[in-house]
Amino acid sequence: MKPIVGLAGGAVVGLLLSLAAEQAMAQTAVAVAKERKEMMGSLWPSYYKDLNAVAAGQDTNIAASSTKAQAASAAVKKLAGLFPPGTGRDAAPETRSTPEVWSQRAEFEAAFAALVSETDKLGEAAKSGSLDAFKAQWAAVGKACGGCHGGPIKSGGKFRFEAQ
Ligand code: HEC
Repeated sequence: MKPIVGLAGGAVVGLLLSLAAEQAMAQTAVAVAKERKEMMGSLWPSYYKDLNAVAAGQDTNIAASSTKAQAASAAVKKLAGLFPPGTGRDAAPETRSTPEVWSQRAEFEAAFAALVSETDKLGEAAKSGSLDAFKAQWAAVGKACGGCHGGPIKSGGKFRFEAQ
């Protein structure tokens, strides 16, 4: 009898361990999804809002925008790393990322890369001091955000569910 009990005990421990591992992964998925949602939500207030003010002529300090654009670009690069597989709605119900984030990965990553490069170019335009160049490049940045989702904060899109 002993070996059988030992086996059964081992199976129970194994099951408990895999349940614990699954639970830990689900917690991690929720945390990652929360972090990227907050970071995505902070792009506008922390960086792009000020850049928009320059493009709209409300702020005339174009030169200062090159540092702001660099910071924005760094934030976007970091954000791009916060979409690991297994962090969709199955594991993190609050996320607004659609399954296409993972099923159409090449397109998703290209959209991120486009936002980084258009933001870098905005920084270059800021250095040139030309408001016309800055405005033109600002339109390209807006398009890059739109490559993934609509403009209004609650809107959906290819890679983002509408807010409920
Ligand atoms: C590569 C695709 C991509 C690009 C480019 C992109 N976003 Fe997002 N964005 C997403 C995804 C995916 C979500 C949903 C995140 C989640 O909830 O997991 C999101 C969510 C958001 C949200 C909602 C956050 C919340 O609280 O639900 C805002 C606001 C936002 N993005 C703003 C922007 C702005 C501003 C830009 C351009 C500067 C931008 N995004 C560019 C993919 C993108």
